[in-house]
Amino acid sequence: MGYKHISAMPDEVLHYLDLRPGKIYVDGTLGGCGHSKAILEKIGPDGRLIGIDQDIDSIENAKDVLSAYKERVTLVHDNFANLPDILSGLNIEAVDGILIDIGLSQHQLSGSGRGFSFQKDEPLDMRMDIKAEHTAEYLVNVLSEKELVEIFFKYGEEKFSRRIAKNIVIRRKEKAIKTSIDLAEIVTASIPVKNRMKQKIHPATRIFQAIRIAVNKELERLETFMDSFHELLNTDGRLCVLTFHSLEDRIVKKKIKELEIDCICPKDFPKCVCDEKRIVKSLTRRVVIPGKKEINDNPMARSTKLRAAVKL
Ligand SMILES: C[S@@+](CC[C@H](N)C(=O)[O-])C[C@H]1O[C@@H](n2cnc3c(N)ncnc32)[C@H](O)[C@@H]1O
Repeated sequence: MGYKHISAMPDEVLHYLDLRPGKIYVDGTLGGCGHSKAILEKIGPDGRLIGIDQDIDSIENAKDVLSAYKERVTLVHDNFANLPDILSGLNIEAVDGILIDIGLSQHQLSGSGRGFSFQKDEPLDMRMDIKAEHTAEYLVNVLSEKELVEIFFKYGEEKFSRRIAKNIVIRRKEKAIKTSIDLAEIVTASIPVKNRMKQKIHPATRIFQAIRIAVNKELERLETFMDSFHELLNTDGRLCVLTFHSLEDRIVKKKIKELEIDCICPKDFPKCVCDEKRIVKSLTRRVVIPGKKEINDNPMARSTKLRAAVKL
């Protein structure tokens, strides 16, 4: 199949997961299995890995790439937001580490044929899970102008959201918007030339990101996962999350902070009476980012942010 992906921050991921032989780990985003393979190498003949991905291409690739470890690997085609059900279905109460590496794999971007890239003329699909309800084509051709503006502002932080949504609605009245290039052309033409000249990124970058996030409900899934991960970790178990933009990082940072709180008494109480306990401890007071060499060797990793926590 030729699945392509270079894993981001591999050394840092192994460091924060603090892998121990014979323990059970979850890779919630198998992708090209680079991280999974490194985890399996570290946890020895008795360690076990539950590998999850919502993209069937990734699961098919994992059957091949991880075949040497197949006795110790369980592959699950599902969303990591469903981790509580996935683990209970496998009769596993808790695990010793969970890795989540969100975003797109290089395969999805350039080899899946699903319209994730504005540089390729492909059907406007953008579903990571091809069983998901709505494609990008559906959103772009069916949502109201107001709904499109909301998605573009919220998930793309695109300042020309209104103009772009307006032009999409004008254009789709003449002819349905069917391909990634159709959409990229409308977006590009909606941004004033002087602003386009100043931008370092392709003018359609933010809109493609926004639509992909909406199609895959990426932030909702991450929030659901972050609400339950601590119940699925053994004491001393680790969480390691790699995100690619500030919207995702904010969710991870906020949830870890909430779980670190050890007192919810009003500030003017002379002493604590709430009996609240810290659930996790953050291992990354400051977000961890890739070094210069990694960014040079793997430019796709340039905006990666890593946060980690340990269950207390
Ligand atoms: C950046 S790649 C992961 C790369 C992987 N860590 C490696 O070393 O090759 C992201 C993968 O996560 C998957 N993914 C993203 N969100 C997901 C979710 N909510 N549930 C399951 N898989 C998800 C994507 O389908 C994609 O294959």
